[in-house]
Amino acid sequence: MSEYQHITTELNEEGNYLVISINRPDKLNALQVLTVKEIADAMYEHELDPKVRCVVLRGTKDYTKKPAFSAGADLSSSFGPGVKPNIPVHMTIAMQMRHRYYDLIEAFPKPVIAAVDGYALGGGCELTLVCDIVIASKRSFFGFPEIKRGIFPANGGTQRMAKHIGLARVFKMIYFGERVPAEKMHEWGYVSFLAEEGDEFENLVIEKATELGHFPTTSLTVIKKCLKYGTEVPLGVGLQFEQLGFGVNSSASDVKEGINAFLRKKEPEYKGY
Ligand code: COA
Repeated sequence: MSEYQHITTELNEEGNYLVISINRPDKLNALQVLTVKEIADAMYEHELDPKVRCVVLRGTKDYTKKPAFSAGADLSSSFGPGVKPNIPVHMTIAMQMRHRYYDLIEAFPKPVIAAVDGYALGGGCELTLVCDIVIASKRSFFGFPEIKRGIFPANGGTQRMAKHIGLARVFKMIYFGERVPAEKMHEWGYVSFLAEEGDEFENLVIEKATELGHFPTTSLTVIKKCLKYGTEVPLGVGLQFEQLGFGVNSSASDVKEGINAFLRKKEPEYKGY
């Protein structure tokens, strides 16, 4: 596996999943463009790897300062070489670059779990928005503090969050720079699984990643595409999408294994395709 500067990666061979940890503990895992680029690179390195059937994205377990998934954009860094903040088109292009990596992460064709233990703020909260499932510890907070810095959540925050929790809640979060506790985000349906910090959280992440890592990859990919993209278009088009997805899924060897195992009264052993 490749070496990275801002992240670490670890393959869980038993669970068939890859763990990507943002590794900038001294800055509470604040994000530079390089950080999100490396996350996308690490994922796509395993795009076709049958041993990687799910990805867990998390913050490092190094809590020397505070537990954090990510405290958002790295406020101590510049936007990149040559980018002049006073030239609007430079900043637009700089943002386009960030969007490119967030979009790539969102489009990764296998399930991605955001495992949040600590702060998920600003760009960190937006990173959870491009994952499929959010598992959080009870000590976590989600929020958009950007307004307090004279900016706003422009890595998809104004666009993606409303689809999950509704406009009124997002207006409140963004206008007031509110930090919402994980329990509330769970109540609102954004956090799928909630656990006490420590072993309970860590074991839950392993359990859910392993579960996804043993389901048939083709089905998971088709489900992801239908849910993420099929729901963006009119229902009639989305249903066509679903029919085509069903056709693709039917050709996978895993679908035969699933049905045959049921008929033989055995546990299925999926190969990943
Ligand atoms: N960018 C760069 N560095 C950051 C950072 C960020 N977004 N968030 C935290 N850090 C750094 C702090 O500067 C500090 O470094 P230092 O110890 O060398 O001074 C370290 O991480 C710990 O942060 P600190 O503020 O001391 O921790 P805290 O527990 O008191 O507060 C936060 C935690 C997350 C509430 C606070 O750090 C914060 O508000 N961060 C900025 C969040 C933000 O605005 N994100 C959106 C950016 S657009």
